[in-house]
Amino acid sequence: MESLKTHALDYIEIYTSMAKALAYWHTQALGFTIVGYMNFETGQPGISSYVLRSNDITLILTTTYPPFKSEYNEISSFIAENHCGVKRIGIKVSSVKEAFDRSVECGAIPLKFPSFHEDDLGVIEEAAIKFYDNSEIAFINRQAYNGIFKSGYKAYSKDKHENESLLISVDHIAAEVRINESGYWTKYLSDIIGTKLVQNIPKSSENETGMILNINQSNDKKLTLVIAEPDGYEKKSKVQQNIDSFGPGIHHLAFSTDDLIATAISFEKSGVDFVSFPPSYYDLLRSSEDFKDINIDELQRLNILCDREDETYLFQKFIKPISDRPFFLYEIVQRINGYSGFALKNINVLKKAEEIEIMNCNLHSS
Ligand SMILES: [Fe+2]
Repeated sequence: MESLKTHALDYIEIYTSMAKALAYWHTQALGFTIVGYMNFETGQPGISSYVLRSNDITLILTTTYPPFKSEYNEISSFIAENHCGVKRIGIKVSSVKEAFDRSVECGAIPLKFPSFHEDDLGVIEEAAIKFYDNSEIAFINRQAYNGIFKSGYKAYSKDKHENESLLISVDHIAAEVRINESGYWTKYLSDIIGTKLVQNIPKSSENETGMILNINQSNDKKLTLVIAEPDGYEKKSKVQQNIDSFGPGIHHLAFSTDDLIATAISFEKSGVDFVSFPPSYYDLLRSSEDFKDINIDELQRLNILCDREDETYLFQKFIKPISDRPFFLYEIVQRINGYSGFALKNINVLKKAEEIEIMNCNLHSS
């Protein structure tokens, strides 16, 4: 049996302790539109789930609440352990059984066997396999289904707000894993869904990030899975600190935009809280010939990072963690002229900037 031919994302489902409030934030702050929902109003007490869309991105935000029903234990136990994070990514397939059987034959750990879910609007087939410690990859075929998402969900007609959908698609899904795990998960993904390791950034004197990076991508480039691993334990990297505090797993989702400057200005007006970067990072960019055509003042004002490879550029900006637990966050990227890398050079510049800031701080306090 062949690997998956296409890797188009169908949806990403986030389990969270407050789906209603988080859905509202996605609409007001990030321009998503609620297109479907399932809760007590639709006849499903004990669960609340919203289908949000922005261009090619479909996010599902799901929660459960007391008194807890055993059928929703999977949701409550995930929330108890993670508070808010990605439970599953759904990949569109033309035959769920074939995709599932093939992946299990090649080493996937099965979590949900293929099953059909039917209502008046048609039938959906879905199955799931293990993905990192707490998540899963779902194979889904909705070709024979005309409903908004799945059986149980209804179209949401209350969102009359005309949102400006500036986020276009999912650029990558990034995870942080324990020492020696990035090779394991890279092989697992390659075996079971056919992604390829397109870039490996090992521990080296040029890599000052404190992490080893594996970039895994499908042939059609529709799915990019970034895996970061601490490059040792003596000098505690940010990745190791995160794993110590929050455990391994999906750390961020990166969404693409066609215009990061406009997106940043729009989201800032909505009160989105972004990660900021030290002034010395921008001084380093100013001092480099590579960025002489870029308006660094504007990037600094908007806390946008910039990397360059030949004539292509990457703009990146990070939204602070989307829940109260400071782990899971969103990144927004703009790839200019087809930049295809993952900003290693830029992470090193940032690292250098942080060192300069620490040095300045020490000088001022001494
Ligand atoms: Fe990223």
